[in-house]
Order: sequence, then structure tokens, then C-alpha cells
Amino acid sequence: MQTTLVLLKPDCVDRGLIGAVISRFEAKGLKISGMKMMQLDEAIINEHYDFLKDKPFFPDIKAYMVRTPVVAMAISGVNAISIVRALGGATNPVDANPGTIRGDFGLTIDGNIMHASDSEETAEIELQRFFGGKDVFEYSRVIDTVL
Ligand code: CMP
Repeated sequence: MQTTLVLLKPDCVDRGLIGAVISRFEAKGLKISGMKMMQLDEAIINEHYDFLKDKPFFPDIKAYMVRTPVVAMAISGVNAISIVRALGGATNPVDANPGTIRGDFGLTIDGNIMHASDSEETAEIELQRFFGGKDVFEYSRVIDTVL
């Protein structure tokens, strides 16, 4: 069992796609272990996207990520990290296959709908960053007995 961090980004919120995207995770059988709306500040964006800080588009990412609140989610399940990444599709919507979240809902890299942790190590760091060890719940669902 793994837990991964997903952010539903401002273009997802702006376009009224929060429910549609969450439905993809639920329909797959993944469990929502935590979920909250957050208005990100500069400090958390700088930390989260530190690896992009020298890129020319970094100021655009910062402006985009504060345009609306985001929805931070802790999503759990067997192989949840790679399954969530697969459901999301390629980072750039232009490369994302139809049937994936970005393939169905995204058009350009400037608005790619969601972020998902890319490894166990990253998931641990990112869950701590957005949930700070609070409000991530362990609970059983009836459906989990067959998954
Ligand atoms: P995300 O999965 O959150 O991780 C890194 C983010 O950087 C990525 O989604 C995009 O939002 C953003 N990104 C990557 N490449 C570009 C680019 N060429 N132009 C703008 N944003 C980018």
C-alpha cells in the first residue's frame, strides 16, 4: 500500500473539473486518505518547484499556482504512486494519451491540471509538505476487501 500526493491545480479549479478528476481516482479503486483546499504562498511554491527555479518559465508557474486555491489530496492504494501518474498521463498535455486526465482535459503545459508525486521518496516529502503529518486518515472501506 502506498500513499501519494496530488495537487489539483488552478486550471482544474478554474474550469470546474475538480469532481471530474477526483472521479477518475475513485473509479480506479484508489482511496482518498486526505483532501483539503489550500491557497499556496510563495514559500511553499518555491520549495515545491525548487528544481525549476532557474527555468525561464518559473515566474509563470508561480503566478499560475496562486491564481486560485488548489486542492491537495493524499491518495492511497496498491501501487498508488505509479497508478496515479499513469492516470494523469504525460506532464505535457500535448503528449498525454486520450483516456488520461491530461489527455482528456489539458491542452498545454501552462495548465496541466494536476501534479502527482513521482516516487516513494518524493511522495513522503510532498505529503509532509502539504499535509504536515495531519489530516491523512487510515480507514477501511468495504470495497478495499476486494481490491
Ligand atoms: P508538475 O507535474 O507539477 O511538475 C513540474 C511542473 O512544471 C509541471 O507539472 C508543469 O506545470 C511545469 N512545467 C514543466 N515544463 C514547463 C514548461 N516548459 N513551461 C511551463 N511549465 C512547465
